Amino acid sequence: MSTAQRGRAVMARFSLGLQSLDDETEPVELPVSGCLPEWLNGTLLRNGPAKFEAGATGFRHWFDGQAMVHRFAVDGGRVRYANRYLDTPSSRAVLTEGRIRYQEFATDPCRSLFARFFTPFQRARPANPNVNIARFGDRTVALTESPLPVEFAPDTLATVGVVEYDDRLGGQLTTAHPHQDPVTGDLVNYVTHFSRRSEYRVYRQRPDGTPRRELLGRHRVDEPAYMHSFAITSRHVVLVEFPLVVNPFRLLLSGRPFIENYRWKPERGTRFVVMDREGGQVRAVLRGPACFAFHHINAWEDGGRLFIDLCAYDDAAVIEALSLDSLRGGDALPQAMPTRFALEPEAGTVTAQPLAAESLELPRIAYRRHNGRPYRYAYGVGSRDRRTDDFFNQLVKLDVGDGGTLLWHEEGCYPGEPVFVAAPPGAGRDGAEDDGVVLAVVLRAATASSYLLALDARTFRELARAEVPHAVPFGFHGIFLREDRARDVG
Ligand SMILES: [Fe+2]
Repeated sequence: MSTAQRGRAVMARFSLGLQSLDDETEPVELPVSGCLPEWLNGTLLRNGPAKFEAGATGFRHWFDGQAMVHRFAVDGGRVRYANRYLDTPSSRAVLTEGRIRYQEFATDPCRSLFARFFTPFQRARPANPNVNIARFGDRTVALTESPLPVEFAPDTLATVGVVEYDDRLGGQLTTAHPHQDPVTGDLVNYVTHFSRRSEYRVYRQRPDGTPRRELLGRHRVDEPAYMHSFAITSRHVVLVEFPLVVNPFRLLLSGRPFIENYRWKPERGTRFVVMDREGGQVRAVLRGPACFAFHHINAWEDGGRLFIDLCAYDDAAVIEALSLDSLRGGDALPQAMPTRFALEPEAGTVTAQPLAAESLELPRIAYRRHNGRPYRYAYGVGSRDRRTDDFFNQLVKLDVGDGGTLLWHEEGCYPGEPVFVAAPPGAGRDGAEDDGVVLAVVLRAATASSYLLALDARTFRELARAEVPHAVPFGFHGIFLREDRARDVG
């Protein structure tokens, strides 16, 4: 059997994760097998696309599906589940009118030339916030790359509405991966402002939840790069400009869907923009080998050197490989390899070094204690034996110190992003970095259903699973809120 034939055969197994889920479930208790830790009380909220058609029209890309939030409330070893579409202008048009009315990542509505001309530079794309979930003070918000967070109630999953920023930061594009300063609790993120003088604007948001962004620094750029996430260390923000870049006027005039305006220019290399977090000055722009990544794993600095760990692809072909036609057609799926980039601003050098032989995507770490600091463990999804003819079919625990891995795999099962939840002080073993559990939603093809899997983060052995009454479409990111909902305990 050829690779393409095998790919199509395997595709039939994981295609359930790319099918629309029409059911919205009222809170229901899930059957649990195994034992969840007594200390694990809180709510796992997951975000992802769940509607891939609008009437007779289909969305083009996995990233375009309409946002649905899934809620797993864990208490005393029991798990209650609910799921609900976020109520946005985009989802209302798709779900009730059967129409695509707003621009998505790789799908455009039919628009007049006039509308096309006047939309992109004036305001952000209306949000289909299907990527991530964060906390703005007491608010829980769903995020995408349009800087229009959508607040929802974490207990009922009811949509509250778009959070209107009380500032003049501008910008039409952001990341759904804000960082939280481990000392101040500030959220740090950036927007790309497209214009004749385009620039990245790095900002912070105070932890009290006030929707006001304060500019930290700016960096002019002729052709902005597509950056899905970025890094912070104790003293710096690092924007990693992969050579997938756009001429802003192409965005304005081409009439093509958003991501199709970007061009792969490997001759630019990958540029590391190192910005001082206090004064906002750009300390250095270093050039490394061309690569592409969606996700940063972590970063930190030691003396004058900075270390940036990424899930790195050879190029940006993965974006097209994640289109629904390619996925459903069984095309090869490029693999992201965990890679460390060592930056020496004084010498002006960048060196890249692989961290492991296993592929790694959707990475998580013990964030609260180790974000921006030295760390040892990363958790993510990967492809068994790095085969390109299947979807993510294993969970990986990576020791970034020695490249060692622990793997979890079950035949015909497809896990999503593993969220690390630290054991609270006194409840776990010893406060070690991997003292806690890893939670992941797993699609089981044979039963056309999903389950919430809990692994011991140290041993990577199963502790428990809770069966969901339907197949949960493949999602992207989420958070675990402790019972008091005050903070992400990852
Ligand atoms: Fe992401």
